[in-house]
Amino acid sequence: MEAAHKKEERKSVFSDYDYSNFYYGAGDDPVNLLGPFREWYQEAKPNGYYLYSEPLSSAPATHVQVRNGKTGAVHDLLNLASYNYLGISYREEVKQAAIEAVNKYGLGASGSPILSGTFDIHEELAREVASFKAKDAAILFPTGYSANVGFISSIMRSGDTIFCDQYSHASIVDGAILAKSKTVFFRHNNPLDLERKLGGVRGKKLVVVEGVYSMDGDVCVLPEIVDVAKRHGARVLIDEAHSTFLFGANGRGVAEHFGLDQEVDFHLGTFSKSLGGQGGFVCGGRDLIDYVNAFGRSRFFSCNLAPPLVAGLRAGLAIVEGEPELRAKLWSNVAYMRRRFAEEGIDIGKSTSQVMPVLVNNDAKVFAVAEKIQDRGLYLQPVTYPAVPKHKSRLRISVSAAHTEEDLEQAVRVIASVLREEGICR
Ligand SMILES: Cc1ncc(COP(=O)(O)O)c(C=O)c1O
Repeated sequence: MEAAHKKEERKSVFSDYDYSNFYYGAGDDPVNLLGPFREWYQEAKPNGYYLYSEPLSSAPATHVQVRNGKTGAVHDLLNLASYNYLGISYREEVKQAAIEAVNKYGLGASGSPILSGTFDIHEELAREVASFKAKDAAILFPTGYSANVGFISSIMRSGDTIFCDQYSHASIVDGAILAKSKTVFFRHNNPLDLERKLGGVRGKKLVVVEGVYSMDGDVCVLPEIVDVAKRHGARVLIDEAHSTFLFGANGRGVAEHFGLDQEVDFHLGTFSKSLGGQGGFVCGGRDLIDYVNAFGRSRFFSCNLAPPLVAGLRAGLAIVEGEPELRAKLWSNVAYMRRRFAEEGIDIGKSTSQVMPVLVNNDAKVFAVAEKIQDRGLYLQPVTYPAVPKHKSRLRISVSAAHTEEDLEQAVRVIASVLREEGICR
C-alpha cells in the first residue's frame, strides 16, 4: 500500500514539470540545461512518456502498424490518433498524382518560393485553394505552423496589440512573439472577456481565433467574437487548421458555417489535417496576398513545398470538391461517437467536432489508462500539461470519415471498459 502510494506520488511529480524546471539554476553554460532535463526524462520515460513518437510502419489509415515504445513489438491497432479526417492521404488518386510528380519534377523544390522554388503546380494549387475558399488569391507556406508565424509577424509589429484566445495553438503565440506586438490573452471562447480587454486599446488591433480548438474540439463562437472585434475596430484572423474542408455547406470552414466569410478579415488553413498532406495557406484579396508574398519571412526564407506533395494536395482537393459525401460521412461518424460516448457516460467536454477529448483529468493516471487502451488494440494519445492545463489531461481522439461504424463501436467499448476499471466513469 505504501509502495503504491509512493509510486503515485512520484508520478505526480514527473508530470508536474514546466519549462522553468530546466531553464533556471543551470548556470551560464547552455549545455548545463541537459543534466536537469536528463534527470526528468529518465524518470518520465518509464512512467508513460514512451507512448509518444511510437513509429508507424504503414499509412495513417484506420488501422496502423505501430511499434510499441516499451516492448519494441509491432502491433496492428485501430487508429484514432491521425488527423486524416477524410481518409485522403492514402487514396489511390493522391498517391498516383504524387508518383507522377516525382517522375516529372524529382523530390524537392530546391529553392525559395520567391527565387527558383516556384513551379507551375504551386501556382495551380494556390489558384485552386483560392477558388475553393471563394477568395481572390491564396499563398502557400511550408507548414500551418509557419503560416501563422509568417502571416502574423508580417502584418503586426511593435506597438500593435494582438488578442489571442487563451487556448491558442503555439504557432499563433509564436507569431505574436515574433511580431513583437503586445499580446493579450482573453478567456477561452469568451467574447465578454475579449470585450473587456479590447476596451480603450488604441492602435492596430488583431483578434486571433481558431475555427475548431485542437485540444478540446469545441467550435469558435465566431458571430459574437466578430461582433465585439468590429465594435472595437479590431481585425479578425481565423485559423481553420481543423475546420477547413470539413465545416460549411461547401467545406470552406467555420467562417462559412456561420455565414461570416466576408466579415472575417484573414483566413488561414493547413493541408496537414483534412487533406492528409503538409503545408499551410492564407487566402484573401490580391493586395493582401501580394503583401504577404513580400513580408512573410517564414515562407520566403524557407524552401517551397515539395512538388510531389503539391501534386498530391491538388488531387486531395479535387476529392474534397467532388465527393461532398465524405463530409457527410464524417459528420454521421461524429454523431455516432457522441451518442455512444454519452450512453457510456464518457465525458468529452465541450467538443462538438471530429476532435474529441476523452477527459481523464488525472495527470498521474492518464498514461496508465492510455497504455491499457493501447494493449487492447486502440492507437490514441495521452495529452497532458503543458499541451493542456494541469489536471486537464485527456486522451485525444480524431474521428475520420474512413472509420466504419464497427471501428467506432470497438473504440467506444474498449475505452469505456478501461475507464470503468480505472474508476474514471461509472
Ligand atoms: C490550430 C492549429 N494551427 C496550426 C497548426 C500547425 O499546422 P501544421 O501541422 O500544418 O504545421 C496546428 C497543428 O496542429 C493547429 O492545431
